[in-house]
Amino acid sequence: MIPEHISTILNLKSDFPILNQTHQTGNPLTYLDSAASSQMPTIVIEAVNDYHRRYHANVHRGIHQLSELATEGYELARKKVKGFINAKSKREIIFTKGTTEGINLVAQSWGRANLKEGDVVLLSQMEHHSNIIPYQMLAQEKGFTVRFIPITATGEIDLVVYQQLLADNPVKLVGVTHCSNVLGTINPITEMARLAHEYGAIIVVDGAQSTPHMPVDMQALDVDFFAFSGHKMCAPTGVGVLYGKQALLEAMPPFLGGGSMINEVTWDGFTPAELPAKFEAGTPNIAQAIGLGYAIDYLQAIGIENIHQHVQTVTTYALDQLRQVPSIQIYGDSPSRGGVIAFTLGNIHAHDLSQALDFEGIAVRSGHHCAQPLHRLLGVSATTRASFYLYTTSDDIDRLVQALNKTVQFFKG
Ligand code: ALA
Repeated sequence: MIPEHISTILNLKSDFPILNQTHQTGNPLTYLDSAASSQMPTIVIEAVNDYHRRYHANVHRGIHQLSELATEGYELARKKVKGFINAKSKREIIFTKGTTEGINLVAQSWGRANLKEGDVVLLSQMEHHSNIIPYQMLAQEKGFTVRFIPITATGEIDLVVYQQLLADNPVKLVGVTHCSNVLGTINPITEMARLAHEYGAIIVVDGAQSTPHMPVDMQALDVDFFAFSGHKMCAPTGVGVLYGKQALLEAMPPFLGGGSMINEVTWDGFTPAELPAKFEAGTPNIAQAIGLGYAIDYLQAIGIENIHQHVQTVTTYALDQLRQVPSIQIYGDSPSRGGVIAFTLGNIHAHDLSQALDFEGIAVRSGHHCAQPLHRLLGVSATTRASFYLYTTSDDIDRLVQALNKTVQFFKG
């Protein structure tokens, strides 16, 4: 039976112009790739347009009306982010290009200043490449070791081994995703942060897949750094946020050098600006940040708890339906999971399957989802992934299941 929640509480497709179109095959467009990029509601598209039409100018520079309006819009977005994630101060909110840039900033700034030979950086086996490679790059230069916390058969972080690894190694930094983009597992960040701190490590969290879907409270989680992206939470591409505890950010050297990030420059050197400017060199992504602010307004108007509940209901319904598809294998079985489901279907290659689904107007992602080591561990080179968001309905799931059954028949045939 279709849970009533799915079609009644949140039926938001009409807010998203892109979702109200027909696929070139003549089928309705069924968008199940929100973990890669979510769609934007009209309010966000219009806010970005409004900036371009009415007050497009640089920020923090000109003493003229347009620049002041742009600065106001950009800084208001920072204030909205601060409230959304319950940071203590706006100084702790650094606008970036996205999650990847946020983690690279931590590695290149905090890591370069603090990591040395003999140290250990502890990551989990379910990390996205963007939470592995920045440390591998730096390790080649600095000579520290990168180790991985194993995951259990259900796709959860093994907390017993995690604690052992912390106890047995000189761990300086723990890097972990809040919600896996493949397995869907939501990791116990509060507990992991407590343990990291107990053993003298800092914790850096990849919040790309959690922030759009559930309340994330920096003070309650007590993490040191937390990175996320706008384009997975109804905002444009090209903007993300790095949250960092103020004391840590203050002690860190700048990441990029250029305009805006300085206090004073001479022929001999420079002094960096105060936070957050110190980490925002060059003209920032003004339109995108303003869009992110409006996306936050939109998500808050619906209620992040309601969105979480909706995605949970959709995911449970989808899991129930998908499990009935012949020869399907679903990866990840944590009771605490977000709105992504990665699967394989018999011997059908993930790319062929995505192509077959596209012929039915269904958009999913296929491949290793930027998590090659995890896929190797799972024993597959590629999976197909359906991912959901606040606008996903039971009809979307039904269409997916129908198309999968059709594909199974076709390949049998
Ligand atoms: N990190 C995004 C994903 O998992 C792009 O699809």
